[in-house]
Amino acid sequence: MAHPLAVVVLAAGAGTRMKSALPKVLHPVAGWPMVRHVLAAAEALRPDRIIVVGPPGRDDVARAVAPHACVVQDRPLGTGHAAKAALPALKGFRGDVMVMFGDSPLLTSASLRRLLAARRKVAGRGRGPAALGVLGFRAADPTPYGRLVRNEAGDLERIVEGRDASAQERTIDFVNSGVMVIDGQQLPGWLRRLRNDNVKGEYYLTDLVAIARKAGHRCVAVEGSEDEFRGVNTKVDLAGAEAAMQARLRQAALDGGVTLIDPATVWLSADTRFGRDVTVGPNTVFGPGVSIGDGVTIHGFCHIEAATIGAGASVGPFARIRSGSRTGRDVHIGNFIELKNTTLGDGAKANHVSYLGDGEIGARVNIGAGTIFVNYDGYGKWRTVVGEDAFIGSNSSLIAPVRVGRGANVTAGSVITADVAPDAVSFGRARQVDKSKAATKLRAKLKARAKTAKEQGWKMQAASSRR
Ligand code: UD1
Ligand code: MG
Repeated sequence: MAHPLAVVVLAAGAGTRMKSALPKVLHPVAGWPMVRHVLAAAEALRPDRIIVVGPPGRDDVARAVAPHACVVQDRPLGTGHAAKAALPALKGFRGDVMVMFGDSPLLTSASLRRLLAARRKVAGRGRGPAALGVLGFRAADPTPYGRLVRNEAGDLERIVEGRDASAQERTIDFVNSGVMVIDGQQLPGWLRRLRNDNVKGEYYLTDLVAIARKAGHRCVAVEGSEDEFRGVNTKVDLAGAEAAMQARLRQAALDGGVTLIDPATVWLSADTRFGRDVTVGPNTVFGPGVSIGDGVTIHGFCHIEAATIGAGASVGPFARIRSGSRTGRDVHIGNFIELKNTTLGDGAKANHVSYLGDGEIGARVNIGAGTIFVNYDGYGKWRTVVGEDAFIGSNSSLIAPVRVGRGANVTAGSVITADVAPDAVSFGRARQVDKSKAATKLRAKLKARAKTAKEQGWKMQAASSRR
């Protein structure tokens, strides 16, 4: 029988230890706000509802967790107090409630499933299903975590926060991940019983274990690994979570058949997508929203975000591909090319030192070295359209808005300010003038002037240049 499930994600804490104006749960890990990772793990369980508890007056938190409902905890009085804020949104719900923390970005849905199964499991000999289950782990340094205190039968007796723990309890290294599943029927009553008589003066969600035990219910702890359950409270923790997430994403990319020449220097986002037979060189960063097609080679030192690279492309080294860029098949994007919100048709090439912003480049176009799409005039951003098979000579500036027709040839060094007709040759530069033998005369003249100036102690030079 399917059990109804609701997930509550707590994301309203002050995050003081991060020493930042940005709410803790919005700090990114692998290109996503931390809380999005938690939500992705929760979504994989296909719960009946997901409720996020956020701080007051923070639209950014509400936006980051959309389309899930965000209810407000008006003051950060503790994790138990935050869970209470979700109760109105749980009204009428019958089933399991899983409470998760928005600062545990490495959680996986597999562990969440294990916890749900453990809570529902009948232990036998009069030990029915547990009313509450917690995910725990052995912490290398248990200091920042709540300690899980178990009885002889191995069931959970209570959770004690480090600050409130006795010297004996502090030695326990089996700690609370923060994921708790509770029989939804009991939850409102138990939350009402929380008190804030502890060192921090907060309402601790963790006290639900002792409350459940007092009411005669069984509680269980399920063990997992620190790499998955670690919480992020400080910038040191954030860096640790990023490293652990990168290791996981690199492993997944390699398992999926991507060639990473030096995996430790390739930085991935949680949503980076690769086709078959992709090779990525060293020191490459993938921001969020990148999709790489089959057979693409990304030479080293590239930075790519919110872009789609079509099959067969060669990219970099040293290319920067910014948001909104999209390419067809078999394109070449060479060294020191910056693309921003620009599309390239099949077989188009831009191989050397160019800024191509807000452009639409047709199939088989060749963009010469040093081409600039002059897209910004200080007020507006304008588009440059280059038709199929056109050729843009090196060191050209295309002043947008402007169109170069298909098959047109823009000569090198041009400044193009008006549309170029299809198949036209456009000279947007000064005409070259050669004067026969003039260099010989010029040399004699300059030589004579220098001689005179020297005889007069170079004083004339300043005087003559003032003339
Ligand atoms: C908490 C647990 C601890 C556990 C650890 C795991 C409690 C009392 N302690 O400690 O047992 O080992 O997580 O990482 O639960 N939040 C709110 N409103 C609040 C306070 C917090 O929404 O008033 C949110 C925070 O945004 C955060 C989460 O709850 O996402 C946890 O809060 P945090 O202050 O980080 O708790 P820890 O000290 O890490
Ligand atoms: Mg925490």
